[in-house]
Amino acid sequence: PAPGWTTTTDVVVVGSGVAGLTVALNVRKAGLRAVVVTKAMLDDGSTRWAQGGIAAALGEGDTPEQHLDDTLVAGAGLCDEEAVRTLVTEGPEAVRHLIATGAAFDLDEDGEILLTREGGHHRRRIAHAGGDATGAEISRALVSAVRSDPGLELIEHALVLDLLTDAEGHAAGLTLHVMGEGQRDGVGAIRARAVVLATGGMGQVFSASTNPAVSTGDGVALALRAGAEVTDLEFVQFHPTVLWLGPEAEGQQPLVSEAVRGEGAHLVDADEHRFMVGQHELNELAPRDIVAKAITRQMQLKGADHMYLDGRHFGAAMWEERFPTILASCRSHGIDPVTELIPVAPAAHHASGGVRTDLLGRTTVPGLYACGEVACTGVHGANRLASNSLLEGLVFAERIAADLAARHRAGELPERAVDVAAARAARAVPLPAPEARADIQRLMSRGAGVLRSAASMAATAAGLAALAEEAYAHLADEKPADPRVETWEAANLHLVATALVAAAAQRAETRGCHWREDFPERDDATWRRHLVTTLAGPAG
Ligand code: SIN
Repeated sequence: PAPGWTTTTDVVVVGSGVAGLTVALNVRKAGLRAVVVTKAMLDDGSTRWAQGGIAAALGEGDTPEQHLDDTLVAGAGLCDEEAVRTLVTEGPEAVRHLIATGAAFDLDEDGEILLTREGGHHRRRIAHAGGDATGAEISRALVSAVRSDPGLELIEHALVLDLLTDAEGHAAGLTLHVMGEGQRDGVGAIRARAVVLATGGMGQVFSASTNPAVSTGDGVALALRAGAEVTDLEFVQFHPTVLWLGPEAEGQQPLVSEAVRGEGAHLVDADEHRFMVGQHELNELAPRDIVAKAITRQMQLKGADHMYLDGRHFGAAMWEERFPTILASCRSHGIDPVTELIPVAPAAHHASGGVRTDLLGRTTVPGLYACGEVACTGVHGANRLASNSLLEGLVFAERIAADLAARHRAGELPERAVDVAAARAARAVPLPAPEARADIQRLMSRGAGVLRSAASMAATAAGLAALAEEAYAHLADEKPADPRVETWEAANLHLVATALVAAAAQRAETRGCHWREDFPERDDATWRRHLVTTLAGPAG
């Protein structure tokens, strides 16, 4: 349908996690008008769920160089070193900016930031808040800051549809569907001088994920439809220790933070054997891909569908003080970590790939920026180092805002002319039935999850193609339904799942969090390179 309403701003930001809200606050400081649109409520994205914390070289004796080394090792040869250097060098200052915005991190008796450890970090480097509620505190502080800026328009319950571009192909705003009341209801358009995607991840492409229900790859799907390049899609990180709630559990699953291992919990099998010992110098704190693989192998070996985390030696007081969120979450599922082993298994957690950007957050479509999990800045390579993602969102959001401000000052950010109705009509997308979501998730978990092979991915790709055919057949028979969030989400999930499987099928090696049963070795001679995907599919 043609947009029913249109508004105009300077910068439209899509998404309201750490990345989106940081961009919005910073462009406002530069005197630009901004609108933030978000699919549900402002704090419904992944940021709020982050437990462990935010990594930065803030501790005595730690340096950005050491943080860089750990990030490069975790990234398994595919990090962009310049991007990582930017991240780790600007990271400490960005955390201080977050504190100035109002985020209260846990402090020691001398008022210094308390730091914990997580997988792949050789030092205590992870700042946390509320024990294990870091994301919730960051989200609270940022939401409060944006809400107190009357010049910033916030549109909740707004599902972004497509990018608008002008005659030169420059981003000129977007179309969106607002499920609200009053002025901004139904399909509308926002004209803008620049568009920033900060839509988060795509964990909902799998059956079991730590990601909230809103993480449906909307930004990557939009970017693909807009002709932007997307890269590293095959590198989906599976978090090793997600509370195991049974074989049928689907949707968002409770995380058991790596910080629990950082404080000394052990991974054991049903015989209480510590199977990580001897597998890596860091034992349970090896990089995440290594731990996820070791758990999966041990599950195969033992014919089990989960392993266990043992934190009984912490005692009740430490659980209550240090990990109150996890303690409550385990207890709500009938498990008491103070006295019992916690059943855990890997589940989809973080997309290391995404919309390809440079160090200023610019995508390959002029005027379209991306930051946070939706982006691929190059800092994660083939496997993200724990707690680097909140930091990435912060650092690159600041860089995007600075670039927009500089372009504005230089007169390089003019208003853009766009024929909204024509652009919208040209981008109509067939919408699968909302029920396709569960089918997509099962196909992906079965064939493109932790363990992949050519055969498993061919079956997944065939299943996805059959779902698309159904959607087209349905369109031919019937008048297309009004877009609803569920149908658009299913379309986006389908598009990103198809792109992900195509990239994963092409990468014929095992590297980082991409694990091929049929190509068990890392192959630097052929594969120390990125796969770039466009709507036409992946290319070397
Ligand atoms: C965790 O707390 O284990 C998650 C941290 C992260 O994914 O960076």
